Amino acid sequence: MPDVLCDPDQIYQVALNLLVNALQILPRGGEVIVRTLSVGTSDVAFEVADNGPGIPPDIREHIFTPFFTMKEGGTGLGLALVQRLVQAHKGTVFSQQ
Ligand SMILES: Nc1ncnc2c1ncn2[C@@H]1O[C@H](COP(=O)(O)OP(=O)(O)OP(=O)(O)O)[C@@H](O)[C@H]1O
Ligand SMILES: [Mg+2]
Repeated sequence: MPDVLCDPDQIYQVALNLLVNALQILPRGGEVIVRTLSVGTSDVAFEVADNGPGIPPDIREHIFTPFFTMKEGGTGLGLALVQRLVQAHKGTVFSQQ
């Protein structure tokens, strides 16, 4: 992996929010896989994948909208923050099934 310039606290928050979402949806014994990838010579990416139910297609377009949540007691700010912080790093967030 190439070294990249980033705000470590912010990227930690990105990873934490994705991991917490995975852990909240998974049943006992579920699995989370984190992969890092290098893209070209100077860009990096990471992926957080869980083997839970997935994001229902009809809500996929809303998950990055602030305050959108399907969880009792959720604030719906996790993925909005993820997207903001990644964009501040000139990055892109993808959600895939
Ligand atoms: N790994 C996942 N699997 C399935 N659905 C997900 C996953 N991650 C997010 N979602 C869906 O996206 C919605 C928005 O996620 P987001 O992290 O923004 O808010 P939240 O987790 O509901 O609340 P908060 O992060 O504020 O506790 C979730 O309520 C859930 O419906
Ligand atoms: Mg969340």
